[in-house]
Amino acid sequence: MINMTALEDHAGDITRKARQAAGVNTAEAAKAAGISEDEYAKWEQNGSSPAEIDFPSLCSLLELNPAKFQTILDGWLPIKRDLAQWRFLEIITTARHGNAANCYIIRDETTGAGALFDTGWEPSSVIDIIRTNNVEPLYLFITHLHHDHVSGLDMLKKEFTKMHVQDAGSTGTNPFSVGALNVTPVRTPGHSSDGMSYVVSGFPGGAPAAAIVGDSLFAGSIGNGFFSFNTLICNVREKILSLPGDTLICPGHGPLTTVTEELEHNPFF
Ligand SMILES: [Fe+2]
Repeated sequence: MINMTALEDHAGDITRKARQAAGVNTAEAAKAAGISEDEYAKWEQNGSSPAEIDFPSLCSLLELNPAKFQTILDGWLPIKRDLAQWRFLEIITTARHGNAANCYIIRDETTGAGALFDTGWEPSSVIDIIRTNNVEPLYLFITHLHHDHVSGLDMLKKEFTKMHVQDAGSTGTNPFSVGALNVTPVRTPGHSSDGMSYVVSGFPGGAPAAAIVGDSLFAGSIGNGFFSFNTLICNVREKILSLPGDTLICPGHGPLTTVTEELEHNPFF
């Protein structure tokens, strides 16, 4: 079972990423936390610690917002949303070896034109949704080329031969039309060098825009900074969290969230 109600990252993951972003070693972090290095290593791994941790001191060293971090410790979760309002936007979560990844489908309600965002581990449920809802997929937008996001690429290309595949290499920043929907590509490297986000607007009934952000941002956390944590944090701050507050954020892993919720709870910002 995929638990979509839990955050992608526990509090230990958040401190590990913040520590790497700040260039702090585990000995320094353990000292600030007031625990042994061994206990600190376990904390980063499990997000729980039998020894009491000095979180204000740890947050100060790791440049995390202590009040927002406390809301994560207290079990904050983003509000669960009914996607019916977006007519339509679907999230599909597939898993391999316990690793779950999200991909997304949009469809313009008048023309049936649609687009996919990433493929997930395997695309059979994506293909089912496209067939059942008479979606005509014009584009497959790729957030980045990690396996969990593109494993279904070959199968989808065979299935939908007219669909154009767009990734960082082929996509500029001009908007794409998908019926009445607009898809604006935004460059958000940091997790990977080829990181892209896509802002979708024009949903009927005044539904807020949706930003498909790949592994740049997770509810309450950020992706790993495999390319550069500093670049990642800058891009998320300037290009994603600067969008209107009600923008729905659709991450590559974990639950949906919004700009407002992230500004209130994400301790990296
Ligand atoms: Fe990734």
